[in-house]
Amino acid sequence: MRKLLLAPSILSADFSRLGDEIRTVDQAGADWIHIDVMDGAFVSNLSYGAPVMKCVRGCTQLPFDVHLMIEHPDRLIPDFAAAGADTIVVHTEACTHLHRTIQLIHSLGKKAGAALNPATPLDVLDYVLEDLDLVTIMSVNPGFGGQAFIPSALRKVRRLRDMADRRGLDLDIEVDGGVDTGNLADLIEAGANVFVSGSKIFHGDAPANVRAFKAIMNAAESR
Ligand code: DX5
Ligand code: ZN
Repeated sequence: MRKLLLAPSILSADFSRLGDEIRTVDQAGADWIHIDVMDGAFVSNLSYGAPVMKCVRGCTQLPFDVHLMIEHPDRLIPDFAAAGADTIVVHTEACTHLHRTIQLIHSLGKKAGAALNPATPLDVLDYVLEDLDLVTIMSVNPGFGGQAFIPSALRKVRRLRDMADRRGLDLDIEVDGGVDTGNLADLIEAGANVFVSGSKIFHGDAPANVRAFKAIMNAAESR
């Protein structure tokens, strides 16, 4: 079984205390920090960009998993690489030349990921799967935290893990949106190994929430 990783999304953090929020989930056992970048065009919401990310890069040693919900990502990928991204994830729906974008990310020494909206079929990955380090299965329509999990994502994760296994690929499969302690075990069983959660981590007692997610992940890993 691949290592299971929890990636709290700081979209739901208190931005007035962003550095402290990151340190808190780090100390509680988070594995990655998920950075949701929204441009008001690919999605209707706006969040933050590379300058904000750069400010908090020094708050933790954890990898930064940067989810670009933006049009024309090639223009900004070098900025996010320079600001300390570890993995850069672009949306297949926003990339006319996805293969070239993946090459750009790798040329900057970063891991490359592709995200699929709920309505986007896995087929778009057929000719680039070997080039990717990670695929993000969106289990909500991107743009906002706190939305309900779309159940068809489970089937999509299962099919993707099967596709990756049949090709012998060492692929991280991330699930993003509406992930909670109620659907986590099913997502692990389906073959996902990176779990993004925003509202279910930061709304309430963040350290306790991280520990609740990690307890389910640890139990699955020790089975
Ligand atoms: C949605 C973002 C998610 C979001 C997840 O557009 O990509 O990362 O913050 O938040 P929750 O866990 O609240 O659905
Ligand atoms: Zn995200």
